[in-house]
Amino acid sequence: MFTRIGVIGAGQMGAGIAQVIATAGLSTILFDAQTDALSRSIEGIHKRLDQAVEKGKLDASGRDQTKRNLAAAKGLNDFADCDLVIEAIIENFEIKATLFKELDSIVKPDSLLVSNTSSISITRIAASTSRPEKVMGVHFMNPVPVMKLVELIKGLQTSTETYDAIVSFCERIQKTTVLGIDTPGFIVNRILCPMINEAIFLVQEGVRPEDIDNAMKLGTNHPMGPLTLADFVGLDTLLYILQLLHRELGEDKYRPCPLLTKYVEAGWFGKKTGRGFYSYA
Ligand code: 3HC
Repeated sequence: MFTRIGVIGAGQMGAGIAQVIATAGLSTILFDAQTDALSRSIEGIHKRLDQAVEKGKLDASGRDQTKRNLAAAKGLNDFADCDLVIEAIIENFEIKATLFKELDSIVKPDSLLVSNTSSISITRIAASTSRPEKVMGVHFMNPVPVMKLVELIKGLQTSTETYDAIVSFCERIQKTTVLGIDTPGFIVNRILCPMINEAIFLVQEGVRPEDIDNAMKLGTNHPMGPLTLADFVGLDTLLYILQLLHRELGEDKYRPCPLLTKYVEAGWFGKKTGRGFYSYA
């Protein structure tokens, strides 16, 4: 069983992953190449833990222990003695492959290196290391502390031991796993992104975003409408995944809606930039 876990990338996903692991009682280190982002992220986690205490969802000693379980790493060398490292950085194959290569030379040889990628080939990421059998995809959902699911993806080289160890780890952090295949978008994004894309085509054809969202919320019991969800996930991320699905699977049904491309060109990435299909103060 793993005792020390490393998370790389302190954005929305990395922070959520680190919070969940530290809450489960495991020693966790979090790193981001941008020092400011890292300290903001740790502050955000502390704030969410304080709010959980205020809401009566966590007791004060649990909060204090969780804070003690979580530390900011100073650099990649701090990951040398981690049993498991979870990468949650930008969705870019070259940047991920460079990081995995570097981790491979730093982290002790028996440890597992996994990626939270939502769409990039695990087989290809694994091939950039000298331990491809110890690499796999472990895809969390946003917001990580709330969403129960983790999608697991084995690369061609992933061993049964690696898969079994990750299944036990996910049980330990109280997540439910499903097994996808190493194809763009895995399960969730393969289904979710074309649905959101279709909603954007309807906006392009003149339907109001609030009507589309109400239709899906009230008509199909989705917790958020597709356009609110698009703004939440990030329109840049959504466009990236659709482009990848379109390119790699080669079917017109994944063609990103031109309106989505325009929004991204305008810098309207959704909630994080204050404007997407809706405006955020
Ligand atoms: N971080 C941590 N906790 C959060 C949160 C966040 N960003 N946002 C909301 N929460 C917590 C709230 O604190 C609240 O906790 P409580 O029950 O302890 O008080 C709980 O979630 C419910 O929040 P709210 O009452 O404010 O709002 P909702 O009931 O509307 O729930 C939601 C918010 C959980 C985000 C819900 O709208 C939802 O499930 N939306 C769909 C999310 C989804 O589909 N995610 C998957 C996206 S796809 C993906 O991640 C893949 C990637 O690769 C693109």
